[in-house]
Amino acid sequence: MTKIDLFAPLPLRHGPELKNRFMLAPLTNLQSHPDGRLSDEEIHWLTMRAEGGFGLTMTAASHVHPLGHGFPGQFGTFSDDFLPGLSKLAKSLKAHDTHAVVQLVHGGMRSPKAYIGQDPVCPSDNAEFGARALTEAEVQEVIESFILSALRCEKAGFDGVEIHGAHGYLLCQFLSPEVNQRKDRYGGSLPNRYRIIGEIIAGIRKRCGPKFSIGLRLSPERFGLKLAEIRDVAQEAMLSGEIDYLDMSLWSAFKTPEEVGFAQRPLIEWFAELKRGSTPIGVAGKIMSAQTARDCLSAGVDFVLIGRGAILHHDYPKKVKADPDFQPVSLPVTRAYLESEGLSAPFVNYMATWAGFVAD
Ligand SMILES: Cc1cc2nc3c(=O)[nH]c(=O)nc-3n(C[C@H](O)[C@H](O)[C@H](O)COP(=O)(O)O)c2cc1C
Repeated sequence: MTKIDLFAPLPLRHGPELKNRFMLAPLTNLQSHPDGRLSDEEIHWLTMRAEGGFGLTMTAASHVHPLGHGFPGQFGTFSDDFLPGLSKLAKSLKAHDTHAVVQLVHGGMRSPKAYIGQDPVCPSDNAEFGARALTEAEVQEVIESFILSALRCEKAGFDGVEIHGAHGYLLCQFLSPEVNQRKDRYGGSLPNRYRIIGEIIAGIRKRCGPKFSIGLRLSPERFGLKLAEIRDVAQEAMLSGEIDYLDMSLWSAFKTPEEVGFAQRPLIEWFAELKRGSTPIGVAGKIMSAQTARDCLSAGVDFVLIGRGAILHHDYPKKVKADPDFQPVSLPVTRAYLESEGLSAPFVNYMATWAGFVAD
């Protein structure tokens, strides 16, 4: 296998080429306003990462519909009222030669009633989450809300969007044979369960310009997902040529899958070996040291997404460039340290809920 350098550029089908193989993973940070407007704190923390050398800088998941609101301080993309903040963020990121992307999400049954003022929505009724099934007309409304959000991001000056099909949120709920019990064309067979994602991607491709990129994030475990199905979906999406990149969220790239029948090899290998045509694939999950990042490329993927390593080091790519043996600071870190890396109090408090991250 050819050895790709972490600092080799990565061309995409649409939009500017990435100057290297580092993407900032989408990181919910609770720093924006309760009504969905972006805050200067969120813009500041992301701009520091763009400045720190990421070839692609991705925002936290942003809700495309008021009913898809999943977190406090989450910024939204469902209204033109958000355009000033979105434009400010895009301009600030684009000043640092990075491919600027907004991650788009709908929380589905994981949107708390406290934020949305009613029972959450889901592909089908779900007693555990107190969620009700979307009607077919509402499914169309969800699709349209992803497309309108993408158009808004394009208008604001972003290079692209990533569709969040992972981690048990609405699109992942559609993919899950356990959660999705629909009897119409959005439920049942795997092509039916994937249909909503396919229609969102096709709609964005049709209505956004030729320089606008579309990424897709999938995760292969939990939420009733079947690894073999997610492999099929991943391969199909890459071979379709409709997406610009596939982002596989593995939580731990080199761990072995939980599912019986797949445990003999690490997760990364199950995806790196798929046919991909000319669509690049990347992985996220405990890529902390420079060596682990190189190991991912050696395992056959095209790029890496850095999450917690980038919270710890805003200039993670620059650090790896300067030191091929780079290791991030050891955990836990102090609140003062995270503040020096551009996190404001709500984000630091959120990180304190992640075991072993913050020394309290
Ligand atoms: C604080 C925090 C917030 C996250 N928010 C998101 C998010 O908004 N969207 C998403 O797809 N994944 C989210 N993730 C998952 C990360 O993008 C990433 O896949 C995961 O953290 C594994 O990478 P890491 O080990 O480098 O942190 C989040 C993870 C963390 C730690």
